[in-house]
Amino acid sequence: MTLPKPTTPLDRLMLALDVETVDAARRMIEHTHGAVGVYKIGYRLAYQPGGLALAQELSQAGVPVFLDLKLLDIDNTVSQGVEAVARLGVAFLTLHAYPKAIRAAIAGKGTSKLTLLGVTVLTSMDDADLDAAGYRLSAADLVLARAKDAAAAGLDGLVSSAAEVAAIRAAVGPDMVLVTPGIRPAGAEASDQKRVMTPADAIRAGADYLVIGRPILAAVDPRAAALQVLDDIAAAG
Ligand code: C5P
Repeated sequence: MTLPKPTTPLDRLMLALDVETVDAARRMIEHTHGAVGVYKIGYRLAYQPGGLALAQELSQAGVPVFLDLKLLDIDNTVSQGVEAVARLGVAFLTLHAYPKAIRAAIAGKGTSKLTLLGVTVLTSMDDADLDAAGYRLSAADLVLARAKDAAAAGLDGLVSSAAEVAAIRAAVGPDMVLVTPGIRPAGAEASDQKRVMTPADAIRAGADYLVIGRPILAAVDPRAAALQVLDDIAAAG
């Protein structure tokens, strides 16, 4: 199934709500409302008391939520987990892009509108890490192999570093949804992200959605920082 692509700069900006409490998340959502298209809830917030309830509440209010839980388990468990997440009403969910997990997740998604995003190789893994974990392929080769397999299996989209997005786009074609973290507006601190790209460059390289956390969360005025990113996206489009 070909999913609709985001059309406006607002639709394309995903804010990583990597904050400590649900209350802090609520304050950030209120402050950035109308300047952020999608709110990403990861381990830190999802596993706080009320974290998943917040995801459900936002979804029911029509605010797109990206649940970044990077699922991986036996087929039956993946399938049932995805089915349960789909019932929460969230818009996006991540899983590790292993062939069997992809097929199980697609089965669990059923006819729901959930967009399933595969993580090919974690951006924290380099060739030496993969070798230590028993893999024979380089990170670049494994990323492309998994991306092609995910496309062939009918997965909705992929998460990749901005540095990989052009190669992945070339390999999987125009339809797959590509989501890219590691984005740093010009002049922002890279922090622990190693291969960063500006919003405009990531869009030009073929990304559909940009995930941004700290450059917005830690800004003096997060709303203004988000609006600046929207301008950068618009300039690239
Ligand atoms: O603060 P920053 O902009 O670096 O946040 C990026 C977000 O994207 C974090 O929530 C991080 O967990 C997530 N992410 C990432 N790299 C990946 C997948 C997800 O940075 N490969």
